[in-house]
Amino acid sequence: MHLLITGGAGFIGCNFVRHVLAEREDWRVRVLDKLTYAGSLDNLADVMDDPRFEFMHGDICDREMAEAAMDGVDAVVHLAAESHVDRSIISAEAAVQTNFVGSFRIFEAARAAGTGRVLHVSTDEVYGACFGDPFEEDDPLTPRNPYSATKAGADRLAHSYYITYDMPVVIARPSNNYGPWQYPEKLIPFFTWRALNDEHLPVYGDGMQIRDWLHVEDHCRALLLLLEEGEAGEAYNVHGDNERPNMETIRLILDELGKPESLIRHVEDRPGHDVRYAMDATKIRALGWEPQIEWEQGIRKSVRWFAEHVDWMRSSVARGKAYFDEWYAGR
Ligand code: NAD
Ligand code: TYD
Repeated sequence: MHLLITGGAGFIGCNFVRHVLAEREDWRVRVLDKLTYAGSLDNLADVMDDPRFEFMHGDICDREMAEAAMDGVDAVVHLAAESHVDRSIISAEAAVQTNFVGSFRIFEAARAAGTGRVLHVSTDEVYGACFGDPFEEDDPLTPRNPYSATKAGADRLAHSYYITYDMPVVIARPSNNYGPWQYPEKLIPFFTWRALNDEHLPVYGDGMQIRDWLHVEDHCRALLLLLEEGEAGEAYNVHGDNERPNMETIRLILDELGKPESLIRHVEDRPGHDVRYAMDATKIRALGWEPQIEWEQGIRKSVRWFAEHVDWMRSSVARGKAYFDEWYAGR
């Protein structure tokens, strides 16, 4: 198997690269990544010399690059994206380009090359906010912010390639991931970094919004399973079975670091903030998968990982300085 992983220098991507190389010894892995602020070769340092691994620096929106990346490949796991809701609120431009147009380029290049399976990584955010029972795969997609709207577009475009061209596409819809190598703009690493520096934690609104937390290692096991055993044309929810109000997660971060709750500051809410994400994952569980990492231990271990990787955190935050200055001004 020769596998192309787009976005492999990002958070989930670099964890998935390691997972695949560890679990499938005879597979080769090629990563295509633009190395935006969110991606770094530091995240892949321990696999760069592996003869089974190859890194291609490039943009998925570039048709020729997408075609070149597909050369000799048997399957694709498409992770590359502009992945942050708050940035997409400041400007939707990059999200529209990469998440929608870039996904189109990847699907089109896979179709032209006759590549085997394409596992498209979507998100629980495509369903929009959940006010009732957890979402099932056939529920309508009603995304409410630019990031999730571009992801919903790509999700349906992927499906259209199955219907129209008979391309063997499988769609994963994972919930909020956490774990090592997560770029420190997302809640858990960002608040860990702020608390380590004794800076206030800017909680949007009352902090009672609910997220379902999935450890990235549980997610990687799900992705490999779906790549190999997911049914073409189908979407699969991948949940952590771990719905928590943000305040509970934030208090746990502070507790692990031994920092005071006086660091918490309630600030202006995110526009269009989805109050709850929740999904039913009966479908992937029927394939034999279930999340294994217990929430409190998983969060504590991740917080310690960030605290032990201060140089990585510092250089990651430095790459996003302009964004942090703009978004958190007054927050
Ligand atoms: P990330 O932001 O950490 O990494 C994204 C990677 O994609 C980076 O390495 C970046 O350099 C690369 N990239 C961005 N634009 C590119 C382009 N135009 N061409 C090539 N490479 C490009 O994101 P992540 O958290 O690892 O998320 C990976 C995927 O999983 C995304 O599709 C995201 O929507 C989805 N997802 C993430 C979560 C989560 O909680 N992190 C949850 C559900 C779904
Ligand atoms: P985030 O990690 O950005 O993921 P998403 O918005 O895709 O779920 O945010 C997780 C939750 O934490 C979300 O409800 C927004 C909240 N949050 C804050 O309250 N303050 C912050 O500074 C950030 C980054 C997030």
